Amino acid sequence: MDNYRDTAADPLPETELPEAAASEAPGTEASEAEAPEAEAAVRILPVAELHLHIEGTLQPELIFELAERNGITLPYSGLDELRGLYEFTDLQSFLDLYYANMAVLQTEQDFADMTRAYLARAAAAGVRHAEIMMDPQAHLSRGVSLETCVNGVASALATSVKDFGISTMLIAAFLRDLSEESALEVLDGLLAMNAPIGAIGLDSAEVGNPPSKFERLFAKARQAGLRLTAHAGEEGPASYIIEALDVLGVERIDHGIRCMEDPDLVERLVADRIPLTVCPLSNVRLRVVDTLADHPLPAMLAAGLNVSVNSDDPAYFGGYVDDNFAQLGAAFGLSEFDRARLAANSIHSSFASDERKAELVDELNRG
Ligand code: ADE
Ligand code: ZN
Repeated sequence: MDNYRDTAADPLPETELPEAAASEAPGTEASEAEAPEAEAAVRILPVAELHLHIEGTLQPELIFELAERNGITLPYSGLDELRGLYEFTDLQSFLDLYYANMAVLQTEQDFADMTRAYLARAAAAGVRHAEIMMDPQAHLSRGVSLETCVNGVASALATSVKDFGISTMLIAAFLRDLSEESALEVLDGLLAMNAPIGAIGLDSAEVGNPPSKFERLFAKARQAGLRLTAHAGEEGPASYIIEALDVLGVERIDHGIRCMEDPDLVERLVADRIPLTVCPLSNVRLRVVDTLADHPLPAMLAAGLNVSVNSDDPAYFGGYVDDNFAQLGAAFGLSEFDRARLAANSIHSSFASDERKAELVDELNRG
């Protein structure tokens, strides 16, 4: 029975929440796979992760491992020096490191290994469905072909249900600081190779690169039957959210937290149940908000917005979905009601089939 109706303001019936599904994730460090003691009593809910950049899951250890495998000399003396660079002042300061570290991704196997490491850790975090963005242009510009990056990630996703109990969709994200012509060319390449993508997204440096720059790209993707999402209102203004909805016709907004600066927009987003894929730890680490205690998530929930909790680039921002939930809980004392609502929102806001959504809602309700 679908207890978790698709309305943020609906009261949820009393229900037991699912047993914690955490188990040590193969292929990841014990320190990451183990739930911290403070979280031990909190049940991990089945969720859909809707905002995740696969390249942002490259852990420092894997960066070094892949560098060695590919004979690449990294400009860091070791893990400590690399980790010391994970202090960001804004989105661009993060993007500089994020793109630089992609140099270690050379072969299909590299992309597959990175993806499997994420899936293993995500399963321990309660993720049951993942919509995974990748940045093909960031690989093409380094001389890595579309086939290599897409087929590598896709090969891991092909067995994700069997291996990790996670259904998936691959989202091709386009870099908004590059031209629309470049994006159109890459979309053509993806369609020509019949890439197993279900949606497109828009990411990278937001300010100065408004959604309207990509009107033709999104029209073409819609024509091709792809679902549509875009980053908007992370560092950029609320007006970018309006443009993404009105000019690009996106179904979902990635981040979107700056909608809170425009009450009319909040009213519209609530009325239309537009999903906002919020990433609290990312917002803190990229200084979009000063501290987690200043994060607008509680206000967004109170306003009746359709928000979900996601990890964005978990290897860089200090945590996966379960860590985001745990730290939100510590900062705000999230009620079980709100946690369940966030989990239900993530499921309903996904691009999964109605059948898969029903399975996940059932799992959430079973407790
Ligand atoms: N690419 C990877 N992470 C991103 C973020 N948080 N915002 C924009 N582009 C990104
Ligand atoms: Zn993102």
